[in-house]
Amino acid sequence: MLATQISNPTIEQRLTGTSMPDRDWWETLWSQPKRTLQALGLKKGMSVLDLGCGYGHFTIPAAQIAKSSPVIGIDVDVPILAEAKKSGARFANCLWMNQDFLALPDLMVSKFDYVMMHSTFYGLSDRIEFVRSVVKLLNPGGYFSAINWLLLPRENTIWMGKPRGPKTEMRLSVDRFLQIVGLATPQLVPVQQVILPPYHYGVTFQLRP
Ligand SMILES: C[S@@+](CC[C@H](N)C(=O)[O-])C[C@H]1O[C@@H](n2cnc3c(N)ncnc32)[C@H](O)[C@@H]1O
Repeated sequence: MLATQISNPTIEQRLTGTSMPDRDWWETLWSQPKRTLQALGLKKGMSVLDLGCGYGHFTIPAAQIAKSSPVIGIDVDVPILAEAKKSGARFANCLWMNQDFLALPDLMVSKFDYVMMHSTFYGLSDRIEFVRSVVKLLNPGGYFSAINWLLLPRENTIWMGKPRGPKTEMRLSVDRFLQIVGLATPQLVPVQQVILPPYHYGVTFQLRP
């Protein structure tokens, strides 16, 4: 699926402020990841690319929904990716790659039906360029789906007794997110938009010719 293997992407390539949340609170905040993915249009038979997959909290449920289609999780964090591999071992369609997702469009030979990025978009320094690179990874009619933290002050997004998520100034309102994608390309059209209580929203775009 890759044209070449880039040499050992390192943790330095991780976007600012995007380290993987600890399981104790992340897995209780997202207790129904399969249902979340279905609400955002993921269906059986779709090939999936999960950008910044962490320990696979969404990647593995995606593999269960996609059934025999390939689902690839990409991350630069080797120990976290090792956890993902272990958790997803019984799903033959679930594959893992230690890659910098910013380098992917130049490396990937395959295209995908569904490219997703969960709780990571806020860390991108060039969001427009990133969205354009996602377009290159999609099959015709494919989907780009993102889950983002709501634009609420960090001190108000409390979970298990502590403020969680990225700094307030890194968060994007739904309108700003839609605007960024629209500025990047007219080809990605929003087809699904959901509020994911308590602190997130999700938007799915479809690639149009
Ligand atoms: C906040 S976590 C979210 C993980 C997962 N999407 C989820 O929602 O459970 C962001 C993940 O993106 C990864 N990441 C950040 N920058 C990356 C890059 N340039 N290439 C690949 N992975 C990256 C981090 O290592 C981390 O595991």
